[in-house]
Amino acid sequence: MTAYRISLLAGDGIGPEITAVSRRLLEAVAAREGFALQFESWPIGGAGIEACGQPLPPETLAACQASDAVLLAAIGSPRYDALPREQRPESGLLALRAGMDLFANLRPVTIRPALMGASSLRPEVIEGVDLMVVRELTGGIYFGRPKGRVESEGGIRAFNTMTYSDAEIDRIAAVAFDLAGNRRRRLCSVDKANVLDVSQLWRDRVNAMAADHPDVEVSHMYVDNAAMQLVRAPRSFDVLLTGNLFGDILSDEAAMLTGSIGMLPSASLSAEGPGLFEPVHGSAPDIAGQDRANPLAMALSAAMMLRVGLKQESAAAAIETAVDRVLERGYRTVDLMQEGCTEVGCQAMGEHLLTALAG
Ligand code: IPM
Ligand code: MG
Repeated sequence: MTAYRISLLAGDGIGPEITAVSRRLLEAVAAREGFALQFESWPIGGAGIEACGQPLPPETLAACQASDAVLLAAIGSPRYDALPREQRPESGLLALRAGMDLFANLRPVTIRPALMGASSLRPEVIEGVDLMVVRELTGGIYFGRPKGRVESEGGIRAFNTMTYSDAEIDRIAAVAFDLAGNRRRRLCSVDKANVLDVSQLWRDRVNAMAADHPDVEVSHMYVDNAAMQLVRAPRSFDVLLTGNLFGDILSDEAAMLTGSIGMLPSASLSAEGPGLFEPVHGSAPDIAGQDRANPLAMALSAAMMLRVGLKQESAAAAIETAVDRVLERGYRTVDLMQEGCTEVGCQAMGEHLLTALAG
């Protein structure tokens, strides 16, 4: 029997609760589809700080690099806000992305039919939305040097550098062109080329690549306009290609098209190593431990792991079908609650998912 090694990173806040749901779901689907999953749990973020004094313990990174796929819940807690930046939970996640060379972050945004009424946008605006944010994840202003803070007689100044090399742009653009070619063949590259030199290079490289992909229709959009078009006419997008910072912002915005950020999965991929799969939402420390978290984005991330990371398409589809079924049956966590539906906690949602997996 095929067996896969999965590093499970529950992280902080609601992480452990939603991880428990996804693990049971994955075990059930693997048993049904006839493959084995060997889970190993490792600390990261605040949990890493508590366990080993570091947001990314070296053992966690090594285990992730040696696994077939990594499933992460969420990191972050206000408890660590006073620590120097390198010691905070977020730095652990950034170091994991860098350490596994996860340069390509895919964030699909689809509207689940049962949730049409849950969006703050009108149903006629969001009906049929099916887009993919392709976000560069290991470069740009998140990682650019120089950065820092200097104090002088004139006052205090802090700075970061938004930088991309041609090679960095080319490799993420290639991912976006490939995806577009297998979807509706429309690629919209987002930048701020009217102001930023780094964006002009981004645009030049995307244009150069467009010449080799006549099948894909390429457009460019300034990031401010993209933010507007996402809520005005979200159906007009197929693949959205962005740098690290713009993708961070636009993917949260795109998430809200679905009604809750608690619905959005993501995949972070390298050229050849294992991928990392995680919900787009954060650790929601305000509701941690209260059995109120929405486990669906992580369940959908587990499905992405099966499809993209392990090439187990039918297992992935089974989880996605189970998610649609629980929603059709009217079960909602508090973030999605609508009139006429049944409000359930995280654990109960997990039970309903398991039931739905069976039919
Ligand atoms: C995300 C998150 C992270 C990011 C944070 C937690 C560092 O917002 O994955 O979108 O900014 O990339
Ligand atoms: Mg973000």
